[in-house]
Amino acid sequence: MRVDYFGEGVAARYDEDDPGMFAPEVIAPTVDFLAALATEGAAGSGGAPQAPSALELGIGTGRVALPLSQRGVLVHGIDLSAAMVARLRAKPGADRVTAIIGDFVTATAGRAFRLVYLVYNTINNVTSQDDQVECFRNAAAHLEPGGHFVIEVGVPDLRRLPPGQAVVPFTVRPGRLGFDEYDLVGQGMVSHHYWEKDGQWQNLSVPFRYVWPAELDLMARLAGMRLRERWADWDRAPFTADSAKHVSVWRKPG
Ligand SMILES: C[S@@+](CC[C@H](N)C(=O)[O-])C[C@H]1O[C@@H](n2cnc3c(N)ncnc32)[C@H](O)[C@@H]1O
Repeated sequence: MRVDYFGEGVAARYDEDDPGMFAPEVIAPTVDFLAALATEGAAGSGGAPQAPSALELGIGTGRVALPLSQRGVLVHGIDLSAAMVARLRAKPGADRVTAIIGDFVTATAGRAFRLVYLVYNTINNVTSQDDQVECFRNAAAHLEPGGHFVIEVGVPDLRRLPPGQAVVPFTVRPGRLGFDEYDLVGQGMVSHHYWEKDGQWQNLSVPFRYVWPAELDLMARLAGMRLRERWADWDRAPFTADSAKHVSVWRKPG
């Protein structure tokens, strides 16, 4: 049974907690990139024309799904959190997006898509290698032939760890503290969040499994897909040794 770390309390402040992720300069290139892939080949090459379509794994409150749907892409999504999906369903344009409550490692949307995507480090929410492998298999099973699977995820930040240290701060400001605690043997990480509300400190600890680009490529191959391109961001900056994250695209054979 998978734990839902995006319950009512998190969902209520999700859209305000990191406003930069909702900024037009972040959303526009993300949606441009995804809309192009959802549309590529959708006109059909000889066969019946197919509509541009996309499945978002971990659709959340619709940060990406809603603007992508506004671009004429038929968007479906899967999410574990009823609270996050309730926020999505309350937004304008949500009637054009189909959201299913379920675990994207195993759930099925009941049809195939031109594009499946998993953004904002959400592959790391899947905390075992077996389940990450299974997530790639499920993504591939939802792709039409010639379709693409896209992941946006940070490169594991282990270079910040001096020998003997396993905890690094990611936020230290008044009323808000956050620390990442690494398990270098198990390839795991727990993000510890602390915030002050009405004079009381609250906390939430969320487990992740960090994963390297090469390991993701192997998962894609196990699922019958091959790497098509890897960039440092949605604007297609080159991916280098210093890139903090990557946007990777794997293709299911046509
Ligand atoms: C960081 S949020 C990202 C939401 C949205 N994709 C975005 O970019 O704003 C991660 C989302 O993935 C969902 N999630 C995490 N693990 C999941 C799983 N195994 N199955 C379905 N949803 C999952 C969470 O409930 C949450 O809504």
